[in-house]
Amino acid sequence: MKTSTIFSIFASVFLSSISVVYAAEDVATASNVTDAIISNAEADGIDLFALDPAILNSALSEISSVYGQVEETATTERRRRSLGHLMGRQTPDRTDIIDVHTHAVPDWYKQMVPTTGGNPTPTWTIADHVTFMNNQGINKAIIAISAPGASVYPGQKGLTVALARFLNEQVAAYCRLHSGRLGFYAVVPLPYTQEAIAEAKYAIQNLGAVGVVLLSNHESYYLGHPSFKPFFQALNGLGGRQIVYVHPNTPYVKSGNNLIEANPTTYPTGNIEFYFETARTLMDLTLTQTIHNFTNIHYVIPHVGGAFPAAIDRILKSVPAIYDSSLQIYSTRFWWDSAGPTYYHQVAGLLGYGIPKSQLLFGTDFPYAPIFTQAGSLAAVKASTLFTAAEKTAIFKNNAANLFGSKLP
Ligand SMILES: *[C@@H]1O[C@H](CO)[C@@H](O)[C@H](O)[C@H]1NC(C)=O
Ligand SMILES: *[C@@H]1O[C@H](CO)[C@@H](O)[C@H](O)[C@H]1NC(C)=O
Repeated sequence: MKTSTIFSIFASVFLSSISVVYAAEDVATASNVTDAIISNAEADGIDLFALDPAILNSALSEISSVYGQVEETATTERRRRSLGHLMGRQTPDRTDIIDVHTHAVPDWYKQMVPTTGGNPTPTWTIADHVTFMNNQGINKAIIAISAPGASVYPGQKGLTVALARFLNEQVAAYCRLHSGRLGFYAVVPLPYTQEAIAEAKYAIQNLGAVGVVLLSNHESYYLGHPSFKPFFQALNGLGGRQIVYVHPNTPYVKSGNNLIEANPTTYPTGNIEFYFETARTLMDLTLTQTIHNFTNIHYVIPHVGGAFPAAIDRILKSVPAIYDSSLQIYSTRFWWDSAGPTYYHQVAGLLGYGIPKSQLLFGTDFPYAPIFTQAGSLAAVKASTLFTAAEKTAIFKNNAANLFGSKLP
C-alpha cells in the first residue's frame, strides 16, 4: 500500500471522530489528542493535511508519543501517592536559574530544516533538554522553535500556516510533559498577518504559550513592515502584558517571487549575520514606532542585542524626536538575554546606554550553541566584574520572574 493510501485511511479515521474541544485546562490524552488537534485546526480554517503526509504522520506520532508519556507520568504519580508517598514529588537539588533563550528541535522538524543559519541543525530530544537543565542548575526554561520557524515554504501560505500550528502543538506537548519547568514562545505564520493573529491567539489562550517568537525577518519582511502592524495591534489588544521574543533569521531579499539569501560573505549566516539581523529589525521596530505605539508589548532581545547597541546612537541621533522615548522603551519594555559569549565584554556596550541591569535575563541558546559556549557563557556571567552578586542572582532568576510574572511555568 502506498503511503498516501495508508495516510488517507488514517486521516479519515481521525476526521470521522471529531467531537472534542481541546483547551489548556482539559486533560488531553494520547488517545484523543490527535482528534482535538485536527478539529481545532479546522475550526481556525487550517488544513493540516496540506502538509506532506510523511511529515504530518511523523509530527502526529511524536505529539501522541509525548502525550503518552504525560499519561504515564500521571499514572506513576497516582500510584506513588496511593502507596503512601504523601510527600509529593521529590524536588531534585538545583538552583533557580531561568533560561529564557533555548530551543526545541523535534526530529521531524530537523528533517525539514537540516541546516540553520548555514550550520547543521542540532539533534535534540526533550529528555536531553531536561538532562542539560539539571546538569546546569536550570530550573525553568522558555523554549522556542529557532529560525526559520514556520517560514519553511516561502510564498506558500497554506503550508506555512499548517506548519506553525503543528509546531505549536508539538512544543505545547513538551511543556505539558514537564509542566512547572517548561514554557514556550509560540511561532506564528508571518508574513500572513491575519493567520498570524489567529495563531497567536490560539497558542496564548488555548495552549498556554507565554508569548510569541518573531523572526528578525519573515520571508524578507522586517518586523516594522506596514503589513505587520495589525499583528502588533491585535497582540497589544489581547489584554495584559504580551511578550514578543525576537529571534534572528538568515537575511533574504525578494526578487520577483524568489527569495534570495542575502549573506554577502562566505561565512554561515548564523555566525555573524544573526547579530546584524537583530540590529536591523530593532531599528525597523524603532523607526516605525511600532514599539512606541503598542505599549502592552514587552520584547525579549537575544544576545544582549547582537550588533544593535553599537548602532543605537547612529540610528537615533538622526531622529531626535524619538531619541529619549526609544531609550526609555529599551530600559523598560526591552529585556536583554545573555545567550552566547556576551558577558566577556559585549554587555558593557549595552550598559553604556544606561539600560538598567534589572532588564537583563539569562539564556543559553541550547542546543544550537556548542556546549562549551553554553557552559562558558554561564561561567562568564558568574565571573563578570560588572555585576554584584545580587545583580547576578537577578540576571539568573528575579528579572525573568519580573518579566513573566504569572506566565512563568
Ligand atoms: C480526552 O479523554 C479524557 C478521558 O479519557 C477526557 O477527560 C478529556 O477531556 C479528553 N480530552 C480531550 C481533549 O478530548
Ligand atoms: C505610531 O504612531 C505615530 C504617531 O504618533 C505614527 O506616526 C506612526 O506611523 C505609528 N506607527 C505604527 C507602526 O503604528
